[in-house]
Amino acid sequence: MEFSRLLKARRMHRHFLPDPLSDETVAYIAEAALRAPSAGFTQGTRLLVLTAPSSLERFWEAVASPEWLDVPSRTGLAAAPCVMVPFQNREAYLHRYGAPDKAYAGIGTEADFAAPFWTIDAAFAAMLVQLAAIDSGLGCLFFGIPMGVDALRAAFGIPSDLEPIGAIAIGKPSSRDISPSAQRRQRLPAGSVIAYDHF
Ligand SMILES: Cc1cc2nc3c(=O)[nH]c(=O)nc-3n(C[C@H](O)[C@H](O)[C@H](O)COP(=O)(O)O)c2cc1C
Repeated sequence: MEFSRLLKARRMHRHFLPDPLSDETVAYIAEAALRAPSAGFTQGTRLLVLTAPSSLERFWEAVASPEWLDVPSRTGLAAAPCVMVPFQNREAYLHRYGAPDKAYAGIGTEADFAAPFWTIDAAFAAMLVQLAAIDSGLGCLFFGIPMGVDALRAAFGIPSDLEPIGAIAIGKPSSRDISPSAQRRQRLPAGSVIAYDHF
């Protein structure tokens, strides 16, 4: 898809058809994460990809209560045939920036990072995953994991140094729903967001 069309098409979907995705499509979307930039080329981000119905069931059981899933804006969310969970790894960045070739950066401890590069990198990768989903003609929702991170760890053997930054539900959208927040709030005009030369 042409990039300007892809940008315009990008918005979050919360209602999906259960139609399974092909292995090729899932791999295309997941492997977009590998193209993300990463601070010091640390490549600390990891991605858990769930497509098996039993895995998806365990995911939703771990992270969401039936009440959370039952609000009108989310009733079609758990039907998504694919969920990808991006993870950040703080330790990997502390280790990388402690390496001799990074000494010049003067970032020796967590407090020295002006912003958490591990979160930035995981978010960049998550964005590429979402764009690849849209490029595949699908819809997706990035959402904060509402509860149950420990249960998620236990269910999927997640290593202790990985922390989920959220999850991405992916599938064919079943409706043209508009985000509840986006219904209440206007997209800001360019002039309120972008300052050329001076604020
Ligand atoms: C970090 C982050 C967390 C989000 N968490 C949720 C969420 O938990 N539930 C939800 O329905 N939408 C969530 N969203 C989607 C936003 O509500 C949505 O992007 C925003 O309202 C603008 O709508 P649009 O993306 O369709 O343009 C999240 C988005 C981001 C970037």
